[in-house]
Amino acid sequence: MRKHPLAQMLLIGAVASVIGVAIALSIDWFPPLAADKVGEIDTLYDVLLIVSVPIFVLVMTVAIYSVVKFRAKPGDLSDGAPIHGNTRLEIIWVSIPFLLVTALAAYGWVVLHNVEASPAAMTVKVRGQQFTWHFTYEGPNGKPVTSDVLYLPNKERVKFDITTNDVIHSFWVPQFRLKQDAVPGMTTHIKITPNKVGTYDVVCAELCGLGHSTMRNTVRVVEKPAFTAWLARQARGPQQQAQAPAGGAAPQGGGGGNANAAGKQVFASNGCGGCHTLSDAGTSGAVGPKLDDLAAAAAKFGKQNNETAAQYVKQSIVDPRAFVVPGFQPVMPTDFKDRISGAQLDALVKYLLSVSGGKAGSG
Ligand code: CUA
Repeated sequence: MRKHPLAQMLLIGAVASVIGVAIALSIDWFPPLAADKVGEIDTLYDVLLIVSVPIFVLVMTVAIYSVVKFRAKPGDLSDGAPIHGNTRLEIIWVSIPFLLVTALAAYGWVVLHNVEASPAAMTVKVRGQQFTWHFTYEGPNGKPVTSDVLYLPNKERVKFDITTNDVIHSFWVPQFRLKQDAVPGMTTHIKITPNKVGTYDVVCAELCGLGHSTMRNTVRVVEKPAFTAWLARQARGPQQQAQAPAGGAAPQGGGGGNANAAGKQVFASNGCGGCHTLSDAGTSGAVGPKLDDLAAAAAKFGKQNNETAAQYVKQSIVDPRAFVVPGFQPVMPTDFKDRISGAQLDALVKYLLSVSGGKAGSG
């Protein structure tokens, strides 16, 4: 005796659902957890998979089964029976998803509430920018300390105040699970307690432009004493740090060490390395032109426009659309002229030309 089509579909759907759920649960969707209190998110994710995979599989089973089983025979041009709808069926297929989605939303809200419940011991300000992140701490002397590497003390609860300079970004460290959008005009928050010393990535989880996939910064979770020492070192000021590493290119021409340090600081604090590779600054961005070759390129392109190399570099920073290097997209933010003072700009230009092999202030 042949089974009713509906029974066949349900049978195929049930078997396929079991297989689908087994596959879904066997996949490692996230890297190993490195934060306290967020384990519930992994459970929530598994529950969502267990609920949604069978629905997807059942719908696809019915659709594919119907297409195959009830397709027209060759030469059959007749129309199917007219369908007038079925109120009882419609109520059922609206009610079930409604109840499911409502229950899952309530569950998700409870999990988020639990995860974010306890108060934080310290605050880090997070600022997104095409295409990098900046982190600001309150230093030991009360003055703000800014870094492009996110240092966090292990086992300490941290509140992140998240903003953006330009478009929407999304602050996410997959090992910490929680994710929060950075939205223009407002400050959003999440609280996280890292619990494993290690190095991770902050990734941007919102498509924010051409350099979106390169918008990654390093997170270093270190023991509390190491963090305190790092913060104190940062608070002492950028001059000492810029001079500390002996590996950087020696300043050439009239610039001198201090001018180079100032320019290097401007480069670092404005996120230039998020898009540009510059060996001296240890950055490897690939959205914009590589600045290790800047001096030669600036001399060449400057000459075409009757400018000195320094004038060319300056213009490329304050008015990046005036000349776009062939092979690159016009995506550089145009507001650096408002964010960088005249003196900072001069220092930056000097620094860039100096470390890329040119003579600072030449021409
Ligand atoms: Cu910022 Cu994607």
